Amino acid sequence: RPRVLSGIQPTADSFHFGNYLGALRQWVDLQRDHQPFFFIADQHAITVEHDPKVLRERTLRAAAQLLAMGIDPARSAIFVQSQVPEHSQLSWVLQCLTGFGEARRMTQFKDKSAKQGEGAASVGLFTYPILQAADILLYRPHYVPVGEDQRQHLELTRDLAQRFNHRYKKTFRLPEPYILKATAKIADLQDPTSKMSKSASSPGGIIEMLDEPSRSAKKIRSAVTDSDGEIRFDPEAKPGISNLLTIYSALTARSVSDLAEEYSGRGYGDLKKDLADVVVSFVTPFRERTLELLDDQTHLSQVLQQGADQARSVAEATLRDVYQRVGFVARS
Ligand code: TYM
Repeated sequence: RPRVLSGIQPTADSFHFGNYLGALRQWVDLQRDHQPFFFIADQHAITVEHDPKVLRERTLRAAAQLLAMGIDPARSAIFVQSQVPEHSQLSWVLQCLTGFGEARRMTQFKDKSAKQGEGAASVGLFTYPILQAADILLYRPHYVPVGEDQRQHLELTRDLAQRFNHRYKKTFRLPEPYILKATAKIADLQDPTSKMSKSASSPGGIIEMLDEPSRSAKKIRSAVTDSDGEIRFDPEAKPGISNLLTIYSALTARSVSDLAEEYSGRGYGDLKKDLADVVVSFVTPFRERTLELLDDQTHLSQVLQQGADQARSVAEATLRDVYQRVGFVARS
């Protein structure tokens, strides 16, 4: 079975609909006929200021959410990045293969450091994409299911894999991004030309999976649209309505064109009200399941420990090859 790997940062109390529709839903689906490795990127989360207590809580909340949405530990290795030290070990080797200018071109660093000024950003934020490349390459996956915003990081990952293979010996598989076009970039409800984002969206722009369902319904009803009054799918001219149709379609498995037809000639209020109902019936059981799972932290820790053991057995073998190939003396 082909391997898949992906990760998510525990940088909020809840995942949002961009995370879910852009990536996590594909994680769940790919479990069926792939060999999956899914992890919580807690080391990436410390590249910006954080509170240690909150990080620990959010890491467990992330694990509970992944299980609640259907990640099955019997099929997938689900683990926490910092529990598999090979990630940072491989990252060092890859840092030594990355050009400074090459790292500089990563747009996420430019965006994220712009706020605080480049001088104040951590070096960890700068080398973040190289740790991500290590996360991926250690497991030699065929596919990496992510949203559109991760494409550049995957290109760097492929470049580094190729460079290593060429300079030393064929070691890494070149992973393919697995990005579903329809949901690759879920937009902010208040600013539908920007992506829904944990760090950049206003509270009204982001639907959180663990939020009070009635609040999410309200956010849908207050989503920014346009004034021409016509319901059709046209992301360029009608980003707000098109985003609502995209979310609606993803949650109901009905095509966007089907929905556009059903609502044509009706008001935006109708569309929003029905979508709000769909969202509420989706998040309500999800939230209950997550809260139940969070009640048993011993179980959660056990699942994560077992996932880390599975991941380590693969990661260790890759790192051993890498160390040998770059010329490190083996431990006896
Ligand atoms: P993160 O934690 O920001 O996001 C997790 C996943 O959600 C996707 N996503 C979206 N998709 C569609 N529309 C949106 N508005 C939206 N917002 C977020 C992201 O593309 C991502 O797939 N660097 C990664 C975490 C990471 C990783 C890895 C991913 C670390 N190592 C190795 C894959 C492989 C990140 O910050 O994702």
